[in-house]
Amino acid sequence: MSEPEFNQPAVGKLVVIGLGLIGGSVSAGLRQQKGCRETIGIVRNQETIDVALERGVVDRAYLNLGDVAPELGAGDVIFVAVPTLAIESVLRDIEAHVSAEVTITDGASVKGSVREAAMNVFGEVPVNLVLGHPIAGSEQSGVAAANPSLYQKHRVILTPETSTGEQHLARVTTLWQTLGAEVLTMTVAEHDEVLGATSHLPHAIAYSLVDTLAHDIGNPNIFRYAAGGFRDFTRIASSDPVMWHDIMRANRSAVLHSLDKFVDNLLRLRDGIEREDGEYLLGVFTRAKAARDHFTRMLAGRALQDSAAVAPAKLQVKHSSGLTGRLRVPGDKSISHRAIMLGSLANGTTEITGLLESEDSLATLQAFRDMGVVIEGPTEGRVTVYGVGLRGLKAPHKPLYLGNAGTSARLLSGILAAQNFASTITGDASLSARPMGRVIEPLTAMGAVIESEFGQLPLAYSPAQGFHAIDYQVPMASAQVKSCLLLAGLYAKGVTRVKESQITRDHTERMLGGFGCALEKTADGWLTVHGGSELTACQVDVPGDFSSAAFFMVAASITPGSDILLEHVGVNPSRTGALDILRQMGADIELLNPATAGGEPVADIRVRYAPLTGVVIPTELVSRAIDEFPALFVAAACASGTTELSGAAELRVKESDRLANMAQGLIALGVPVTTRADGLSICGAALSGGEVDSAGDHRVAMALALAGLRASGTVVVNGAECIASSFPGFVAHAKQLGISIEVIDS
Ligand code: S3P
Repeated sequence: MSEPEFNQPAVGKLVVIGLGLIGGSVSAGLRQQKGCRETIGIVRNQETIDVALERGVVDRAYLNLGDVAPELGAGDVIFVAVPTLAIESVLRDIEAHVSAEVTITDGASVKGSVREAAMNVFGEVPVNLVLGHPIAGSEQSGVAAANPSLYQKHRVILTPETSTGEQHLARVTTLWQTLGAEVLTMTVAEHDEVLGATSHLPHAIAYSLVDTLAHDIGNPNIFRYAAGGFRDFTRIASSDPVMWHDIMRANRSAVLHSLDKFVDNLLRLRDGIEREDGEYLLGVFTRAKAARDHFTRMLAGRALQDSAAVAPAKLQVKHSSGLTGRLRVPGDKSISHRAIMLGSLANGTTEITGLLESEDSLATLQAFRDMGVVIEGPTEGRVTVYGVGLRGLKAPHKPLYLGNAGTSARLLSGILAAQNFASTITGDASLSARPMGRVIEPLTAMGAVIESEFGQLPLAYSPAQGFHAIDYQVPMASAQVKSCLLLAGLYAKGVTRVKESQITRDHTERMLGGFGCALEKTADGWLTVHGGSELTACQVDVPGDFSSAAFFMVAASITPGSDILLEHVGVNPSRTGALDILRQMGADIELLNPATAGGEPVADIRVRYAPLTGVVIPTELVSRAIDEFPALFVAAACASGTTELSGAAELRVKESDRLANMAQGLIALGVPVTTRADGLSICGAALSGGEVDSAGDHRVAMALALAGLRASGTVVVNGAECIASSFPGFVAHAKQLGISIEVIDS
């Protein structure tokens, strides 16, 4: 073996005690990456030394730590990779021979027992000891399985103590990063609980299953016919028995805790099978399938999008000539949220077609699954919801994660606040910064008990005693607040009356009617809902989302030569303010084939290019066009003259501050924009190319991308992955119409 070329070392000398799969792979990987000055193995027998040297796993190897200890000092690292229960004796050896300046770390699968071993040996967890665990094992073992790439793109959990030395932690972190791993930190207790459930329990089950099949079933031919399912499920039963014997004992209490829960559930499943309880079985299997399908995303802490969408992405848009063609935009987001919610609370089975399969609507769907509702799909927009009735939701086992979905958070609040179980909702950074006081305050007046810091997520709901009706005038223009209270009204004692200050989308009112709970509206605008009104399952056909269509309405309006048709779009008058504004600016937009779907008006929208002129936007149109302003601002930038908007302070508390972020993006592209607290002025101008930022807001990302259609140079939109929250197929649809747009991974 030739000497590896010396490069920037993460560590000085690396001593690995125990050259099995885990230790051997660390050594081989660091050696290959030239991440240390030298790799030295300490093993128990000469054969391992021979194999390790022959395979280039280490530079040198010994049988005793004492042989190498005197040459170790600050900057050097000892990685302990022996079976969990052997660690204490290795630590004693280290204590006896090694200077306290050397960084010590380990790779054991249980951290509590290693911590205890350290306390036994040193009387404390020493400053230079950084406990760790690479989540990268496999069923293979021994030095021959050592693989220098084993840790690439895997996670490593470090469990530092408050007393852990910073330089030691940094050195161990660098070591793992050099091997291509992602380093996370957590407490010892958290680590053991999480791994007990996700790793140790499945190993216990796999060993037990194979043992059962091998010994107890009594058919000697059983393995001959065992194919796919058996192989997939039992791979881990080939893992190293000594290692797993150690792990089960070292993490005994966490494993027992998970095992008890599993045995309990298994017995319930057994019972369901015995009783031929189809609904129960379907419930378990659909919930499990959904959880398995979202597994990778849940690990990422973002429950619902596919992993491709999580990867940071940039959009690159170039000047394009006339857009042509026809397409159907995905289902309406507002209506999709409501269909899942009302379907879940109804009696009977609701069939939904055209559901939007975006992160936001899937967040709502998952929340109801987490509360025990069986929901099949979505499969190409088709969803079957087995309603549980108003009082049939079950307490979720964990906080309901709603991602970026404001509608979900506000509407669900009306439902959760009225339940007789406790629950919590959480969301991503954007949702966690949005104002929730607007629902907390009226719900509290109804008797809800909601805990929140600063009126923001997480919100924790306690069971409400004496939840009762109120009269409430919604102070801001918000369909979400209105809807929240109407849903809460279903649970309240008495008649809840809600009045809005401006017209906002009325999908909740319409859909409640479809579910057999028509609301009364008084002449002076009070909506009334009677507590205890039951909902009856129905069919919901979700029309195309006007807000998604609006991006292409603007795109075609600003691109000479365009003529496009957007099919089956919802044109509920409480949503179509942008149509009125664009027409006032001179746009050529026609509504064709008017019809009704799921209680909502729909039409095909034909848009042809027409030169636009700036306008003063009438304030009474603002609440009916609230989500379309990012797109409208781009139309204004491409119009001649100035467009003025006021009365739109709500835009500052959407998924981002849309006044500030759109102004910033347009200014970067050479458009003169001035902002005010409740609006802005945009002067139509020749757009230049440039790099702009989505600020994590899906509508800002899509709107700024459109600016590229008329810019003299390329427009690059950073942070475009957020588009998945409302319009997953945006890029494909845009291309279909002839927009020159590409996704580039960043
Ligand atoms: C929505 C209402 C509006 C809108 C949001 C969807 C709804 O929010 O901006 O995208 O589905 O009820 P506000 O109620 O905060 O205005």
